[in-house]
Amino acid sequence: MNSSDFILTPWESKGDIDYTRLVERFGLNVISDDIRRQVADAAGEDHFLLRRKIFFSHRDLDVILHSYQNGPGFFLYTGRGPSGNTHIGHLIPWMFAQWLQSRFGATMYFQLTDDEKFYRDSKLSLDDTYNLALQNARDFAALGFDPDKTHILINSQHINTLYPLAAQAAKKINYSNTKASFGFGNDTNIGMIFYTALQSAPCFLEKRPVLIPLGVDQDPHFRLTRDIAPVLRYPKPALIHNIMIPSLTGSSSKMSASSENSAVYTTDTAKQIRQKINKYAYSGGQESVAKHRQLGGDTQSDVSFLYLWMFFEPNDSKINQIKEEYESGSMLSGELKQILIESMVTYMERHQNRRESVNIKEFMFDETEYKNKMRR
Ligand code: TYM
Repeated sequence: MNSSDFILTPWESKGDIDYTRLVERFGLNVISDDIRRQVADAAGEDHFLLRRKIFFSHRDLDVILHSYQNGPGFFLYTGRGPSGNTHIGHLIPWMFAQWLQSRFGATMYFQLTDDEKFYRDSKLSLDDTYNLALQNARDFAALGFDPDKTHILINSQHINTLYPLAAQAAKKINYSNTKASFGFGNDTNIGMIFYTALQSAPCFLEKRPVLIPLGVDQDPHFRLTRDIAPVLRYPKPALIHNIMIPSLTGSSSKMSASSENSAVYTTDTAKQIRQKINKYAYSGGQESVAKHRQLGGDTQSDVSFLYLWMFFEPNDSKINQIKEEYESGSMLSGELKQILIESMVTYMERHQNRRESVNIKEFMFDETEYKNKMRR
């Protein structure tokens, strides 16, 4: 791998992600101004994650809008591989999914892949990943989803429903395609090789179009699903992708749940947040105050600015003012960090209260109810 090269798969992120090249490599459709406007018109409001191009690409979003306006509508699906605590990167697609549900009234299925993380991580037992799944489910449910329209599936628990769908998918995905997509070798365990079939299964829970908000690292699974969906007589799953939030230390490879100091978790205390940002958040400021006042800071690489831009400051006039002041040198790096810390601490305290009080039983997938609904 040369210095300008990068790797991004569901399981690996190395080097700085070049999104222009990623669009070519993955064959993504960049979200045009026109389609962005259509989403806002249909939703009745704009969303800052779309406006700021954090959600930057899609597959068949136009088909979803058409189905919403003229056809059977659509359902939503997204997920989490429970390998650790939830970090702020995970919240991006979920926060957007919650907005989609509230604006379009769509049913949401949320998959927790305790099997995937067990296959992938040599240190985690199935009990560990199951327990983490229950913790991660709280973070998801705390974001304000409608319990009557939201169904959380845990692979090891809801396999009766998922297995027949995964089996249909597995029969049509061949080894050479998964191998080419994920770089599997002879030492890859066969759980991993089968796994894409399970991540595909929720796409087939209903016989109508599905929209999946997700980080772009997960796209390779659904490229395979999209290839086989027509053979199984289902619509191709539609996708809307977000860019990856960078790690605290600034590399634009993604924030990762497996490296404690590269991420801010929803379980972090105010003190931990303050320490992490002050100590680790990569600064785009100059080495001396005098130089900073003269040259200003770089908002393209400053992690505190990027976190505000991508998540913690949805208000456009406020973020633009911060940008202007930081780039002109009138705001120092330490001052910018304080703004981020304040927003993050306020957000997390509210989130943690909701996380504790949420009743996840209300959100758990009910196989009997699902079967009855599908029979109708
Ligand atoms: P997982 O647990 O790695 O990630 C959960 C979701 O968070 C996104 N994500 C990020 N987004 C922005 N910045 C980051 N640094 C960042 N890191 C992760 C991921 O893209 C994902 O959307 N195999 C999946 C679980 C899964 C799933 C799905 C994901 C099952 N079904 C359907 C999306 C859609 C996984 O391990 O995700």
